[in-house]
Amino acid sequence: MNSYIEKEKEYIFQTYKRYPISIEKGIGCRLYDFEGNSYLDFLGGIAVNALGHSHPKVLKALHEQMEKYLHISNYFYQEPQIKLAEKLTQMSPYDKVFFSNSGTEATEAALKLARLWGNKYSKSKVISFTNAFHGRSYGALSLMDKALYKENMGPFLQDINIIAYNNIEAIRANINNDTSAVILEFIQGEGGIVGVSEDFVKELFELRDKLGFIIIADEIQSGAGRTGKLFAFEHYGVKPDIITMAKGIGGGLPLGGVLTTNQIATLFGYGTHGTTYGGNALACAAGLVVLEELEAGLLHQVTENGNYLKSELIQIKELFPNHISEVRGIGFLQGLSLSFEASELVVELRNHKIIGNATSGNVLRIIPPLIVTKLEIDEFITALKQSIDIIKK
Ligand SMILES: Cc1ncc(COP(=O)(O)O)c(C=O)c1O
Repeated sequence: MNSYIEKEKEYIFQTYKRYPISIEKGIGCRLYDFEGNSYLDFLGGIAVNALGHSHPKVLKALHEQMEKYLHISNYFYQEPQIKLAEKLTQMSPYDKVFFSNSGTEATEAALKLARLWGNKYSKSKVISFTNAFHGRSYGALSLMDKALYKENMGPFLQDINIIAYNNIEAIRANINNDTSAVILEFIQGEGGIVGVSEDFVKELFELRDKLGFIIIADEIQSGAGRTGKLFAFEHYGVKPDIITMAKGIGGGLPLGGVLTTNQIATLFGYGTHGTTYGGNALACAAGLVVLEELEAGLLHQVTENGNYLKSELIQIKELFPNHISEVRGIGFLQGLSLSFEASELVVELRNHKIIGNATSGNVLRIIPPLIVTKLEIDEFITALKQSIDIIKK
């Protein structure tokens, strides 16, 4: 119903550049609009719908929980929260979870922990990196350098130093005894699917062990199995001190959080941090299904199908050497670096009934639901080839 497009303009803040379609429903990796068109979803709610749309196990878990309660507040011990926290700690090398509703709030919690750590050990500076994305609150924006998100909104938090991403010299020059924490995405998502090098990670963790600051891994986009491991840092054989998570971890419901060690978790005492909705029962019930599915074979499937996607993308790059400069990423967090605006390709893909996504201007970001099949990947690849062919002409 296209009247929704007009009504949206009339009633809602114009902060989102929406695709010109109104979706009625989603099933698996497909979205259906009110006109009866179906689209293959290679956006997955911006890396949220890990198990696609209307996954029967998610719906079953939600129905079962809905019949018990929707919300009771964090005054109570809540079964779905505790089960999910137990699972997260079993599947990761961490001890404790704090649940939030979103990625931004996870960043806020991590930043507060960083300040508490710093104040305890007389270290004042937090280091973050160019091109990062950590959310939209003042804390998160203070960690980011992209002008669009910050213009005319200052002042921002003090004692934050944004330095060049993936640059060993920059960390050597800027990290010292006064550093309380470093926050990074092991693979920058909004920043154009750019991963850190092994050497950079090695240097960063050696500096941590020498100087005693904490490392926060923002796994909000790269976590929840998207790279074939529960968290992207696992590809590097290191253990950050705090993990921030959101997006896929709630399987489509608003859920985020931080995972950390017992030692760091005690920096928050009773009442020093909290949220009304964080760890909502429905979101946690869905989150538990996501983790169970990842453990039951989906992680393995992401690795296998992600490798398949990558090999297909590399072939496409070879077909269009003047239009594709690089294939980046791993699992279902991949990107094509293009010689033209990626939004042009997103429009053409949509003409081929594929929902794609552009980031960082010239990067086609490929973040389908983790359950996407090889056949669906083939469908995407065929449409991608045809779309680039049309743009090229
Ligand atoms: C790496 C990263 N961190 C933080 C955020 C913010 O998460 P949210 O939009 O849930 O607040 C995002 C969202 O895109 C993200 O990709």
